[in-house]
Amino acid sequence: MIQEDDAEAVRREAGPAESSRANRGWWDRNADDYQEEHGGFLGDDRFVWGPEGLSEDEAALLGPAASLRGRDVLEVGAGAAQCSRWLAARGARPVALDLSHRQLRHARRMDLANPAAPPVPLVQADAAALPFRDGSFDLACSAFGALPFVAEPVRVLREVRRVLRPGGRWVFSVTHPFRWAFPDEPGPEGLTVSGSYFDRTPYVEQDAEGRAVYVEHHRTLGDRVRDVVAGGFRLLDLVEPEWPAWNTQEWGGWSPLRGELLPGTAIFVCERD
Ligand SMILES: C[S@@+](CC[C@H](N)C(=O)[O-])C[C@H]1O[C@@H](n2cnc3c(N)ncnc32)[C@H](O)[C@@H]1O
Repeated sequence: MIQEDDAEAVRREAGPAESSRANRGWWDRNADDYQEEHGGFLGDDRFVWGPEGLSEDEAALLGPAASLRGRDVLEVGAGAAQCSRWLAARGARPVALDLSHRQLRHARRMDLANPAAPPVPLVQADAAALPFRDGSFDLACSAFGALPFVAEPVRVLREVRRVLRPGGRWVFSVTHPFRWAFPDEPGPEGLTVSGSYFDRTPYVEQDAEGRAVYVEHHRTLGDRVRDVVAGGFRLLDLVEPEWPAWNTQEWGGWSPLRGELLPGTAIFVCERD
């Protein structure tokens, strides 16, 4: 995250409405800087699961690339829809949904830069209230979109289940829960436990009036597994990407130093019954 100059970082409760409002504003204000800083690493049409750089080309967590052709796919918290563009290039029919208008403007900018490819359909909405009919999609995915930011992740999971067809796969990545016990720093100071892993109090940045301007929510690994089950999914796999030697880049608190010692990303591979 990029802490805004006048914001104070605290740990305090933040409910669904406050979290959604704060994060929509934060991503609208910071989308330009975010895409400037990370757009090169993400690429306009790559599918990257997290700062380690694990790509869907290598991981095939949604299934073999050949099986994606003709499939309706929902990308939740899509940002500039890079993953959706990768899916479209493999013959899938993606829809990219995001809370932030400014992030979706970047998606439109990238589409316009490549007029040979059809533009990705974009939808601005909160992942906790998906504006789609039941059973609209074969697959759903999210690379760090929405789930780290919502107060009630089970609501999002139930919504994703509702819009998936039976047997549909749902794969999402989030900050690895272990990280919450450590300072969010890429250097050696990020290697010493500074708080309880079991403290679920949200991380909130707030303005001078105490209004949240950015919120992240912590769930332990066990909480995430229980959320998946409560959302109506079977958990097929939990992938913890290791830091590869080729990746020398830092991304906020993610770095080669920490990546060698600690997991930074957790990817949940789920299936709707
Ligand atoms: C870290 S970005 C992930 C997007 C993309 N995969 C990437 O790596 O840049 C997180 C995205 O989640 C979106 N987001 C946050 N809360 C959301 C919510 N409640 N519903 C939908 N999108 C949300 C943000 O607007 C942002 O674009």
